[in-house]
Amino acid sequence: MADEIRFFELNNGEKIPSVGLGTWQASPGVIGDAVAAAVKIGYRHIDCAQRYGNEKEIGSVLKKLFEDGTAKRGDLFITSKLWLTDQDPQDVPEALARTLQDLQLDYVDLYLIHWPVKLKKGSVDFSPENLMPTDIPSTWKAMEALYDSGQARAIGVSNFSTKKLEDLLTVARVPPAVNQVECHPSWQQDKLHQFCKSNGIHLSGYSPLGSPGTTWLKSDVLKSPILKMVAEKVGKTPAQVALRWGIQMGHSVLPKSTNQGRIQENFDVFDWSVPDYLFSKLSEIEQARLIRGTSFVHETLGQYKTLEELWDGEI
Ligand code: A2P
Repeated sequence: MADEIRFFELNNGEKIPSVGLGTWQASPGVIGDAVAAAVKIGYRHIDCAQRYGNEKEIGSVLKKLFEDGTAKRGDLFITSKLWLTDQDPQDVPEALARTLQDLQLDYVDLYLIHWPVKLKKGSVDFSPENLMPTDIPSTWKAMEALYDSGQARAIGVSNFSTKKLEDLLTVARVPPAVNQVECHPSWQQDKLHQFCKSNGIHLSGYSPLGSPGTTWLKSDVLKSPILKMVAEKVGKTPAQVALRWGIQMGHSVLPKSTNQGRIQENFDVFDWSVPDYLFSKLSEIEQARLIRGTSFVHETLGQYKTLEELWDGEI
């Protein structure tokens, strides 16, 4: 069917499924059931990170799903991310080894530098004294070695601005396959989208629903009157339209849910599309970044004095 768009091709020929289950803020105890439900529904992409603290539980469930024949390893696309405390080149392979052990896998399909921000090794919180200057080129070299070894079938970054991607491209032997960033109809990332498109970097959207469950964010993404109007016209929910918007833009989307009904709802985005005359309305939605990274800037410590520097103006 013309509207399906189940996969996008990465710059190394790997295929990334267009919808992945987000696992941020999905507590241990519930994430296992969510992953099992998602895979049974047809999800082929699970977006993980060491920092989310639930890779062990996800690993146990994946093992079960492989053992009982529900899924084959080769059919799933598993992403994980290098946490900020492990950016020293010698710590990078160890961090992936821990993730692989927790996930009970031999390789991940995609391994990302979680943020262009470095924290002191072993630190657990974001207090300013833990912030360190970054050395992305040397971290990236270590990522390239993981790619060469086959333990990461694709490598990329997350939360990188256009400028930071540009800088990385000038030193990369293996260009990043993906930049995973906040992206939804209320934060469309036009400039970054264009840059990624013309440089063969796939943009993957996190918080594609605007993280309505995150208490410290004021998220109105699903309440946008324009989004609601489009949803009504196409007979879908605002969440489905937000996801379909991302897919039609060429982004993979990573909605998080631990509710079986909503996991299903978020996957029902393939056999229909938003027609052009309504799609263009979505570009009129007011724009605002939700995840700002305020903990990662400090006037004297770390890499970035201001949010302006962290995002290179894209705020
Ligand atoms: P829940 O896990 O109870 O379903 P994002 O992926 O943008 O970070 O958003 C995740 C948040 O959105 C979670 O709080 C999740 O709650 C909620 N959510 C997930 N799917 C839907 C949906 N289809 N409609 C409304 N809220 C949703």
